[in-house]
Amino acid sequence: MTARLIDGNALAASIRADVARRAAAFAAHGRKPGLAVILVGENPASQVYVRHKVKDCEESGLYSVLERHDASIAEAALLARIAALNADPAIDGILVQLPLPPHIDAGKVIEAIAPDKDVDGFSIASAGALMIGRPGFRACTPYGCMKMLESIACDPRGKHAVVIGRSNIVGKPMAMLLLQANATVTICHSATPDLAHHTRDADIVVAAVGRIGMLDGAMVKPGAVVIDVGMNRDADGKLCGDVDFASVAPVAGFLTPVPGGVGPMTRAMLLVNTLEAAERAARNAHTARAR
Ligand code: GUN
Repeated sequence: MTARLIDGNALAASIRADVARRAAAFAAHGRKPGLAVILVGENPASQVYVRHKVKDCEESGLYSVLERHDASIAEAALLARIAALNADPAIDGILVQLPLPPHIDAGKVIEAIAPDKDVDGFSIASAGALMIGRPGFRACTPYGCMKMLESIACDPRGKHAVVIGRSNIVGKPMAMLLLQANATVTICHSATPDLAHHTRDADIVVAAVGRIGMLDGAMVKPGAVVIDVGMNRDADGKLCGDVDFASVAPVAGFLTPVPGGVGPMTRAMLLVNTLEAAERAARNAHTARAR
């Protein structure tokens, strides 16, 4: 068996094209869907990420503002900026790039974002909505992984899915989305004694740990779908995932590459969430006017 690659670049491009079509239709409301991105400090990786997010918006016909703040900004001042953006009708989605400087409570900042503008899906309201299967914003990376499964007609129903990693941003919401799609879900983490025992039984493996090569071919069931969420740099500075590509590719049925897999999908799903926030806001405004 040689795994077929799931091309995240191509899938993300088709999602962006759909977003662009819907954004053009949204122009009938007299404005563009709008995203505010807040960057605090000079973290080099964060600077790259936010540049990409703003560029993606421009290319898909969304309005975006990038607010840069000095690393020394007071928490209260940042919360005040979020309150202003919550009240700004031109802004449908608010994203505060993480990590934040240590003197700022990231949890408090995320909770300050209005739930209907939480396009990252990181708030307690969004996480809770996912948990109980209510409409709400889904965190972009796991949402993108679900779209990748859909693109290969992999229906999780009745399948055993193993999620490696239990972060609030990827592992936990990923497990919930797979559960909602009727998979039998196992969540593995750093205290799981025999990881390979679980992964060898999995029809779907999602690796979201942040450690190079932690999933190798001997740990994978022949024909399994393997999704690599890892974004690591090797000793030469080359981007690589959590999956040992060389040994897993001959065993898996489908595999996502790094780069060009989950990364572009995360970016695309942020656009989808922003567009959906705008469409909801427009519907709510219409309903309010009709009353
Ligand atoms: N930092 C790394 N990834 C992300 C993300 O998806 N959203 C935010 N807000 N910060 C991040």
